[in-house]
Amino acid sequence: MHKDLKSILMPKEEIAAAVSQLADQLNNDFNGEPVLAVVILKGSMFFAADLLRELTMPVTLDFMKVSSYGSGSASSGAVKLALDISADLTGQNVLIIEDIIDSGNTLFKIRNLLSNRGAKCVKICTLLDKPERREAKIEADYTGKFIPNEFVVGYGLDYDERYRNLDYIGILDESVYS
Ligand code: IMP
Ligand code: MG
Repeated sequence: MHKDLKSILMPKEEIAAAVSQLADQLNNDFNGEPVLAVVILKGSMFFAADLLRELTMPVTLDFMKVSSYGSGSASSGAVKLALDISADLTGQNVLIIEDIIDSGNTLFKIRNLLSNRGAKCVKICTLLDKPERREAKIEADYTGKFIPNEFVVGYGLDYDERYRNLDYIGILDESVYS
């Protein structure tokens, strides 16, 4: 375990099992219909890379990036669009792929933006969810794991851009950010 962590939340085997279970649900629900995956950068890229390779329907891929001001361990309410997708959403099944939902402010903004562009449906798939911290009224359609209110890193998730390349998810020791 990395020295900056206080414990491991999801070892890599548990992540793989959660990803496969999400893929099964998606393959079942979409039943062969094409999907446009909108991956929210940067944190979701590891999750998306694993999940999308287990999907059996035709998949196209696009990226979106938002930034919430500040670099602490909690996001501020203000969310700014830093990169928009280039795909035309008309008539498409859109699947937003997110690493973690915390306050919900980020996804609330993204979903509203994408919902007004003529998509057939807009669904949300998140690996992790911290429901205790919710401020915005938003829920994912597909959730890998509900977790307690702890700051986690690894498998794409960062603290100040670090730890993204750990192949497991761990709880960051408070001494690193306090
Ligand atoms: P929200 O807008 O508060 O829901 O925050 C969502 C974004 O904050 C995520 O996409 C992550 O980038 C970041 N975030 C929230 N909680 C964590 C965490 O525990 N570890 C790492 N990043 C987090
Ligand atoms: Mg982040």
